[in-house]
Amino acid sequence: MKVGIIGSGGREHAICHTLNNTKKITQIYCFPGNAGTAKIAENVPINLENFNDLKDFIILKKIDLIIVGPEKPLVDGIVDFLEAYNIKVFGPNKLASQLEGSKIFTKNICKKYNIPTAKFGIFEDIDDATKFIIKTKYPLVVKADGLASGKGVYICENHEEAKLAIKEIFEGKFGKSKNLLIEEFLNGEEMSYFIISDGKTVKKFDTAQDHKRVLENDKGKNTGGMGAYSPSRLINDELDKKIITKIIEPTIKGLKEIGTNYKGFLYVGLMIVDNEPYLIEYNVRMGDPECQTILPKLKSNLVDIFLSCCNEKLDEIEIEWHDKKSLCVVLCSKGYPDEFKKNVLIKNLDKVNFDENEYCYHAGTTKTKDQIYSTGGRVLNFVCTSESFSDARKKVVDSIKSLDWDGGFYRKDIGYKVIDE
Ligand code: AMP
Ligand code: GLY
Repeated sequence: MKVGIIGSGGREHAICHTLNNTKKITQIYCFPGNAGTAKIAENVPINLENFNDLKDFIILKKIDLIIVGPEKPLVDGIVDFLEAYNIKVFGPNKLASQLEGSKIFTKNICKKYNIPTAKFGIFEDIDDATKFIIKTKYPLVVKADGLASGKGVYICENHEEAKLAIKEIFEGKFGKSKNLLIEEFLNGEEMSYFIISDGKTVKKFDTAQDHKRVLENDKGKNTGGMGAYSPSRLINDELDKKIITKIIEPTIKGLKEIGTNYKGFLYVGLMIVDNEPYLIEYNVRMGDPECQTILPKLKSNLVDIFLSCCNEKLDEIEIEWHDKKSLCVVLCSKGYPDEFKKNVLIKNLDKVNFDENEYCYHAGTTKTKDQIYSTGGRVLNFVCTSESFSDARKKVVDSIKSLDWDGGFYRKDIGYKVIDE
């Protein structure tokens, strides 16, 4: 069978690599992919804003299954569009994708079903929001409503910072904003919890902990993710049960009541406070770099899982995992998440010796005349599975050192809470 993957990051390379191990799959297309996917798939440089071109290509090449990696096409309704042409596609529809597309949509579901989350207010007017922040406690969180590539969240330490955040959001820094959210700051530890669903059955898809801040010890600016480890150190049976009954089940019920269901991966971003889960956000996709971290532990066949979701038969399959620890470190372009140089040559990648349990997933890379160049902020993901997190991290760091790329930097302390404390 032929499979198409939409996206160009480490998450999509990891999905592509995992699917490539299946005999059933004869051809993979990546829209548009990166230098890593180019080794195993055909990269198709297509404008993802134009679903018609994509649909024509899928029909022309007789692609049997499409997997959507990033949130933007999902929120823009790619699943509804392709399904109207009888194309099999793995991912949530446009309405269900509002769980990520609108933070206010999700907060309203939380309110209606009593889902534990930070206390919040929705403000439609700059004056009302500015008045509200005079009498509140700090830190305080101010959030833009729509998609903002992870940038529309301000953790404000004082009134001045909150005032600036409100001004920037209403002035359109993250696109036109009719409203914003002001939220209580939750003090705990974050965890990424994943489920997969076919619209009827929900199954767990492992846990991870992501390091979002750019500097060691979780300091500095927020990024897309500098590294992750799986499983999360926080997960236990009691917490697992609470997440399912207090957060996931009522959310699925809420979607049902507005006439839809959830098909695809759902990323449940949680703050754990004293073994109690609070929902911070939903993402309607796998996490990046959590996907790269989790997939090497998957024992079951990934394409069978995707197909069972598209055919509403997830209840018929078992999702099995290797009992291993996995750790991922992201090698980034110097300067990220601010300005960074593009098209910097990456030499030596083919000279790095990777063990059997090591993986190198590309993100912002491109291949020109047999040479690999960086094109994005996050460039390469080094992953290792092992009996211990510390061994996995040591191997990953050794591989990054042997690459010796002077255009990049990385955090050497990924997993420090589970390794060093
Ligand atoms: P979000 O895009 O909503 O996931 O927010 C980005 C990051 O901001 C999260 O990963 C958290 O680190 C932080 N954050 C968001 N909301 C809160 C909150 N209510 N309390 C504490 N930290 C938060
Ligand atoms: N690692 C965070 C995200 O995928 O949004």
